Amino acid sequence: MVGPADLRDRGDRRSPDCQLDLRIAALRERAERESRVALTPETVRKFIALGAELVVETGAGQGAAISDADYVEAGARVTDRAQAVAGADIVLAVQAPDAADLHGAKAGAMVAAIFDPFSREDRVRDYGAAGYEALAMELMPRITRAQSMDVLSSQSNLAGYKSVLLAANAYGRAFPMMMTAAGTVSAARVFVMGVGVAGLQAIATAKRLGAQVSATDVRSATREQIQSLGAKPIFVENVEGIEGEGSGGYASEMSDEYRAAQAELVSAHIAKQDIVITTALIPGRPAPRLISDSQIASMKPGSVIYDLAVAQGGNVEGSRADEAVTVHGVTVIGHANTAGLLAADASALYARNLFNFFSAFWDEESGRPLLDDEIGDAIRLTRDGKVVHPRLGRQSTPE
Ligand code: NAI
Repeated sequence: MVGPADLRDRGDRRSPDCQLDLRIAALRERAERESRVALTPETVRKFIALGAELVVETGAGQGAAISDADYVEAGARVTDRAQAVAGADIVLAVQAPDAADLHGAKAGAMVAAIFDPFSREDRVRDYGAAGYEALAMELMPRITRAQSMDVLSSQSNLAGYKSVLLAANAYGRAFPMMMTAAGTVSAARVFVMGVGVAGLQAIATAKRLGAQVSATDVRSATREQIQSLGAKPIFVENVEGIEGEGSGGYASEMSDEYRAAQAELVSAHIAKQDIVITTALIPGRPAPRLISDSQIASMKPGSVIYDLAVAQGGNVEGSRADEAVTVHGVTVIGHANTAGLLAADASALYARNLFNFFSAFWDEESGRPLLDDEIGDAIRLTRDGKVVHPRLGRQSTPE
């Protein structure tokens, strides 16, 4: 067994002889139900290979099955929060910590995390006032070069998979068709609404479990993707001006005419489904309402709906974060942090996203990342004491 004192001792051995001038700190998450971590032993090794010094807060990896000893083994120093943050040039987190918790980090330190900046402008202003460079990883542009840095994709993929497993678990019947001596068990009908990263993985997972799968989206480009996974596309036809594709490959808000046609189509289809997985999001806006109370009432008792958009306001009327509610005999589930339920894999992918991001900008001469290009501009919220993101308005922060 390696105790904390041993860890500190073993970790500290690096510092005196190792005059590395870039220090990266990873913190233990404070948010409720957050089990992920932003740094793994794998990325510790990779950052060290770039010449950085790594410091990890005690217990940071616990929720993701990574021990303090694993971090030390990989070459990081494990210590308390104050010491981890002290002198940090870069701070890595899953959910952005409060700026006040970063006291002691270097002036201008970069903080890479999920910031939720449009509903937490107060926190962004605090970062500006404290002089940190806040980097909102969820604002990564949808361009080929940034694919390996895209935390929304990596987390949505896992969330799509897990949502199907959780729905299957809550369903009192089997997914695949089974021919048994006692008779036939029929296949479950699964309907996936919203075919982005999470929806595609949900379709694939439900197919692998043997369900009969159908899916819908507002973006017409998804029709072929649904078919290529062997599922049936359910699409609004003959409504003028429907493309559904906004900027950057994201959905745009739809016309009233489209919404009415979609509601009619969905009502007819949903009544025949056993499981519905909803994943629809529109960036910067509340999630669109896709399933009403009366549509739930049309489903068979015992059916299950999983609302992956529950944290963004929900696609399903009556869904509640982290609760299973029964509405007209239908179980409605939605975890606010579905990817976090697969903490080890979610952390491994998130940590790689962060490493891929920083390493792509690593300047060998100065031994630190230089972020001045379109990716930096897209995700940077604050710098030099100011809020700099165009969607948050350029404003000076109070002294
Ligand atoms: P998202 O999480 O923003 O939304 C999920 C899905 O819901 C989307 O497919 C959207 O069209 C759909 N949706 C929105 N309103 C709806 C409604 N009223 N009814 C039904 N469906 C509705 O989407 P996500 O997963 O972020 O992916 C968006 C696109 O971006 C995809 O084409 C994906 O392949 C692409 N992408 C590109 C990346 C890159 O090039 N770096 C990285 C990640 C995704």
